[in-house]
Amino acid sequence: MFNLNNRVAIVTGAGSKRGIGRTIALALAEQGAHVVVCDLNLAGVSEVVEEIKEKGVRSLGLKCNITSEEDIKKTVTATFNEFGRIDILVNNAGITQPVKVLDTTPEDWTRIMEVNLKGTFMITKAVLPVMIKEKYGRIINISSVSGKRGGGVFGGAHYSASKAGMLAFAKALAREVGRQGITANSVTPGLVATDIRGGLESKEEQQKMTADIPCGRMAIPEEIAATVCFLASEEAAYITGEDIDINGGSHMD
Ligand SMILES: NC(=O)c1ccc[n+]([C@@H]2O[C@H](COP(=O)([O-])OP(=O)(O)OC[C@H]3O[C@@H](n4cnc5c(N)ncnc54)[C@H](O)[C@@H]3O)[C@@H](O)[C@H]2O)c1
Repeated sequence: MFNLNNRVAIVTGAGSKRGIGRTIALALAEQGAHVVVCDLNLAGVSEVVEEIKEKGVRSLGLKCNITSEEDIKKTVTATFNEFGRIDILVNNAGITQPVKVLDTTPEDWTRIMEVNLKGTFMITKAVLPVMIKEKYGRIINISSVSGKRGGGVFGGAHYSASKAGMLAFAKALAREVGRQGITANSVTPGLVATDIRGGLESKEEQQKMTADIPCGRMAIPEEIAATVCFLASEEAAYITGEDIDINGGSHMD
């Protein structure tokens, strides 16, 4: 599809078995990129690294908690030592919680913000100097339709606020780094069939959740990964500060 030969990508939260991050990591590798797979879950990371290597590109697996400055530093250093460059960062790691505002504690709020928003900021800040030196970079945030329509899908208001923050962060960053050959964009998926909701929903609930989606179903992770590959490519050099909806029509703007 798009030539990503010898590009080096870091994908956060890519160790989840049915997750969007894993699928993105595999899709980038399929297009020729070497991929650094990061997650809290090291066993999951190792499996993805093996799958990537089978595609004939190189891969490095790292335990990286994106809320830890130390882990981030180690990740960026290890990536640079191994590959000598960083071209693509996919900010995919994220958590959610289905809770009403009145039941949300300050600790809940902080936890969601720390991972989804502050973690995104911290790892982006850490890779930027390398991209600026290269005069090339692709930063892609995995936000959510919840950040645009104000939830109503699964997560609470804190999740929506964190995902809206990711959108604004990418736009503001795009203004700062455009002249250095770096783009910053977001994708905003609607419901995707993964384990992020902890398999909590029953068949009936799933039917209810998809009833109002014009496409009549959840997305599969591959449908998110395809757009990420496009945004990661040279062909997308003039797209920046944009967010691309992948939601089956559940939100149109
Ligand atoms: N599944 C959906 O319906 C949906 C919709 C819109 C947006 N998203 C977003 O897509 C992204 C991926 O979600 P998913 O559905 O694949 O979920 P998932 O739970 O399958 O994967 C998320 C991964 O992030 C990792 N993670 C969590 N906290 C982390 C941290 N502090 N540091 C590093 N890694 C961490 C988890 O270990 C997990 O492997 C998330 O940002 C999510 O908000 C998902």
